[in-house]
Amino acid sequence: MNAVVARSRRSVLAVPGSNPRFVEKARGLEVDAFFLDLEDAVAPLEKDAARHAVVAALNEGGWGGRVRSVRVNDIASEWTYRDVITVVEGAGANLDCLVLPKVSDASQVRWLDTLLSQIERAVGLEQGRIGIEAQIEDARGLVNVDEIAAASPRLESLVYGPADFMASIAMKTLTVGEQPPGYDVGDAYHYVLMRILTAARANGLQAVDGPCLQIRDVEAFTRSARRTAALGFDGKWVLHPGQVAAANEVYAPAQEDYDHAELVLDAYEYATTVRRRGAVMLGDEMLDEASRKMALVVAGKGRAAGL
Ligand code: GLV
Ligand code: MG
Repeated sequence: MNAVVARSRRSVLAVPGSNPRFVEKARGLEVDAFFLDLEDAVAPLEKDAARHAVVAALNEGGWGGRVRSVRVNDIASEWTYRDVITVVEGAGANLDCLVLPKVSDASQVRWLDTLLSQIERAVGLEQGRIGIEAQIEDARGLVNVDEIAAASPRLESLVYGPADFMASIAMKTLTVGEQPPGYDVGDAYHYVLMRILTAARANGLQAVDGPCLQIRDVEAFTRSARRTAALGFDGKWVLHPGQVAAANEVYAPAQEDYDHAELVLDAYEYATTVRRRGAVMLGDEMLDEASRKMALVVAGKGRAAGL
């Protein structure tokens, strides 16, 4: 499966698994995807209760066609194996993906793949039905990102975790997503974002941008989303209802670009099949096979967004 066009992830809502009020609210939001969090939004003493709350929330349903994920704890913790077993045994049939945070090498993804295969077999779920989303959020994860992206056929996306990443490289700022003060020679995140994006695309995966923590500042959210959308990222985490509409809009193509992409596809198909030509003019624009590929990306994102 090519995850790049498989599921829409323009807006990915983070929901603390231990907070029933937020879980209930999440059901009413127009997001493409959500994840119920067992990691950083849940206090250590609440981990076990949160697992059971997450299982109940998935099984109760009411999530429409959204992509349903759970973020388990990272593999260096003592919680991960029990998170996976409790959630997948309890609600595997109502779960699309697990988000694995702080992935620093490919063996961690393979470990999760194997554990998922065992549980799927044990409880009679279709083999390979549960996908994996890997968060790249430390220096080791970025250095190993190519191997991580190729580690399992279950992988659907790479997710940039800006807060943990900035801490991991000791960036001198406290504001997630904004340029660090004093760095005035370009975009301090360009290398990281392109590294993650190219590793994802090289393996047919989606690339998702992480959160913007200034939750009341929709302009800051939109600024940061526009940057990654322009590069090619598929979507961004949202932490607050106020960020949802901006994410859905920014990561979908503009209607005019979508219409043009469909026109390019039609014109090029006609040129190659009926007229047997590899290049054709559409107005003042010359189209060839590479134009078709670019149009396919925009059309794919537009179709997924229901344009
Ligand atoms: C998300 O997990 C982040 O660390 O930004
Ligand atoms: Mg993180």
